[in-house]
Amino acid sequence: MAVSQTKTAKTAQYQSRINIPAEKRTQLIGMLNQHLADTLDLYTQVKQAHWNVKGMNFYQLHLLFDELATEVLGFVDLLAERATTLGGIAQGTARMAAEASALPEYPLGAVEGREHVEALVERYGQYSSRIRTAIDDSDSLGDKDTADLYTEISRAVDMRLWFLEAHLQSSATLD
Ligand SMILES: [Fe+2]
Repeated sequence: MAVSQTKTAKTAQYQSRINIPAEKRTQLIGMLNQHLADTLDLYTQVKQAHWNVKGMNFYQLHLLFDELATEVLGFVDLLAERATTLGGIAQGTARMAAEASALPEYPLGAVEGREHVEALVERYGQYSSRIRTAIDDSDSLGDKDTADLYTEISRAVDMRLWFLEAHLQSSATLD
């Protein structure tokens, strides 16, 4: 039997023998679906940069952006499958992501490498902040496994933020 429309909200859930109380699983599933939307949005934005970057650094940025996108797609699967592991329904279509994502839309006027790197630094910065908050939020809901999943994503995103920011740094930008 199909799940009714009213039960396809971000927090709908099945019964489970996972010993985290149902109301806490509800909150965790809602968080995971929010970050699933953010992450799908980030993935498409990195691909947008991969396809459209121009200039003398084209090839290295084209390759870097694809590497980043592949990694972000891995986060999408981790988040969606943690939501379903907890008994939830993953909300992972492009339309769902577009409706729910907290990230700003990609600047369609970006052309040169620096413009794409700056756009991605801004978005990776916001994304990393949201994921870091989710580590503590899931821990305080009694789910160290979800906190560990967020920690894994956070560590990788911080490193990628370094990769991106290094393009914009020099002795002149030292504090
Ligand atoms: Fe490609």
